[in-house]
Amino acid sequence: MPKIKVIHGPNLNLLGKRETMVYGTGSLAEIDSAMKELADQLGLEISAMQTNSEADIIDAIHKTDYDLLIINPAAYTHTSIAIRDAIAAVSKPVIEVHLSNIHKREEFRRHSFIAEVAVGQISGFGPGSYMLALRAARKILMDREPQKKP
Ligand code: DQA
Repeated sequence: MPKIKVIHGPNLNLLGKRETMVYGTGSLAEIDSAMKELADQLGLEISAMQTNSEADIIDAIHKTDYDLLIINPAAYTHTSIAIRDAIAAVSKPVIEVHLSNIHKREEFRRHSFIAEVAVGQISGFGPGSYMLALRAARKILMDREPQKKP
């Protein structure tokens, strides 16, 4: 079964309590359990982690025990060349996810260092962004499977 690693970046442990007008009232645990349910349906193995540390995110990217990475780098999206370089270094497919639409918020959120090393970015659908990312992950992984001879 293809393995998906999910990394939730800084402050996302406070989902449900933090800026609820922007990020909603659902918790990170709720997102993780909805993702697990959908992953089961899609035939994907999933493991999720949250950390507030840039170094831990980089170490998790380097540990290539996954076929595809779904990452919400949170504020590091807009600042971290180190996370961008870690993704470039391992050459695994990556989907960048954001709960809010970063393109209709403050100017400083509009630039992502991650976007140019990701397959794509999903932004603005609340917890649904993660579900869309899982469906995209399945498609990416299926398309990569060697074509069977007729
Ligand atoms: C976020 C958007 C970022 O700009 C912000 O720093 C976050 C969360 C999102 O999911 O919408 O912490 O990544």
